[in-house]
Amino acid sequence: MEKILKELKKFGIKNDIPNISETNAKFLRDLIRIKKVENLLEIGTANWYSTINFAFELKKTWGKLTTIEFSARSYGMAIENFKEAWVDDIINAVNANALDYIPKIKEKFDFVFIDGMKRRTKDFLELTWDKVEKDWIIIIDDVIKFSEKMVWLNDFLEKNNIKHNIIPIDVDDGIMMIMKD
Ligand SMILES: C[S@@+](CC[C@H](N)C(=O)[O-])C[C@H]1O[C@@H](n2cnc3c(N)ncnc32)[C@H](O)[C@@H]1O
Repeated sequence: MEKILKELKKFGIKNDIPNISETNAKFLRDLIRIKKVENLLEIGTANWYSTINFAFELKKTWGKLTTIEFSARSYGMAIENFKEAWVDDIINAVNANALDYIPKIKEKFDFVFIDGMKRRTKDFLELTWDKVEKDWIIIIDDVIKFSEKMVWLNDFLEKNNIKHNIIPIDVDDGIMMIMKD
């Protein structure tokens, strides 16, 4: 089963797709397992490397996920990958701009992974905020390498007194973890 992840990672490297690293994937999967996540939201699917990693973990505990991607080309890569990985039954794949789609979502998510356009990170966070309850988790990727692109993120965190941790998960980058108070 995990063979498909190796292939997706290889494809990502060859095609310059900014997938999460294997170390980051392992950390996030552990977190999903520890928190017994039931309903995950991902912003930024790309070639499904992170998505299928998450789905493998969620599958063990009957969890599910929604992933949003606005590139039709990336979205189109999904179908075969899902089938091969046997995770199509737990993934709701949405081909849309997350900025338009998130406000229409009615459900809540106990784990949100924000990995879309870096300049819109603060908007993704703001839009998902009310869909996450106390003790649930929001992860933002690439917060060290692309900190200068994440305009208004710090203002939003400060203004709303949002406590967070930055975890330098790889040699070249880190994630922000927010556990909602
Ligand atoms: C860093 S890549 C995602 C990598 C993926 N999470 C992984 O680790 O395998 C970012 C993706 O987000 C998509 N994206 C950026 N802004 C978006 C938006 N507003 N709505 C939907 N998708 C978006 C891009 O097309 C791109 O495929």
